[in-house]
Amino acid sequence: MVHYKDTANWLKERLIKLPKFAVILGTGLSEMAETFATLQRIPYSELPGFVSSTAPSHKGFMLLADVKGVPVLFLQGRFHYYEGYAIEQVIFPTRVLAALGVKMLVVTNAAGSLRLELPPGAIVQITDHINFMGINPLIGHNDEELGERFPSMNQPYDPECRALCDAIASEQGITTHKGVYIAVTGPSLETKAECAAFAGWGADLVGMSTVPEVITARHAGMKVLAYSIVTNYSNLFHEQAHSQEEIRHHAGISGAHLQNILAEFVLRASQLFSLT
Ligand code: HPA
Repeated sequence: MVHYKDTANWLKERLIKLPKFAVILGTGLSEMAETFATLQRIPYSELPGFVSSTAPSHKGFMLLADVKGVPVLFLQGRFHYYEGYAIEQVIFPTRVLAALGVKMLVVTNAAGSLRLELPPGAIVQITDHINFMGINPLIGHNDEELGERFPSMNQPYDPECRALCDAIASEQGITTHKGVYIAVTGPSLETKAECAAFAGWGADLVGMSTVPEVITARHAGMKVLAYSIVTNYSNLFHEQAHSQEEIRHHAGISGAHLQNILAEFVLRASQLFSLT
């Protein structure tokens, strides 16, 4: 198995700029990367240790782009546990980012809503999460060089970054919401009873990603910011099953708004945290 440090070294030899920012783009959000000036584009198939993403509308490219003068590495497409990959493979790209020197990770996803106040199309800043995947990506040998054995998950979603994004959203006149994300493995969608249980636990959004990457990034000391785009009401509010088409449609519309927030965030955070 390829070591993430080898992949990071492979990238260090090729990337024309070493980014401090990275963005993982979820379902339906891959296009966001292409609206910025692309500096370099590497297919996952060329990246040592990367598996290929099988999920629909996940592209499988690493893109280095110029966002308002700041180099940002975009991962177009992620690996999900439900695809049958080992959890080590799911978090491999995040580990590579850490070894590459990325300090700020933005994670995006498409999620189902557990609250009537969060309709399809809502942009939701993740404030906290519940790991209900039945697995933790840090199980196994701990690389002390990377992080500690028992990393804190107190405020994994950086409060300063969240506040900065709130300010940007309100300046731009974009409505955003806040919510707790519960991660399940999928691929089957949740039953009504499961949705009711999750809502009762305090979850607002349900999805099949993000939490493994966030735990891994926090372990490695990166700052983390995450947003969901609500693509559908969960089965709590449905009599009919919802389709994959419905899920992808909504991701596209709100993606443009989220992109504007994140571009400005990158610019201001790079100055605020001296990440250039
Ligand atoms: N459930 C789980 N994951 C999802 C959903 C959902 O309703 N929508 C988008 N990703």
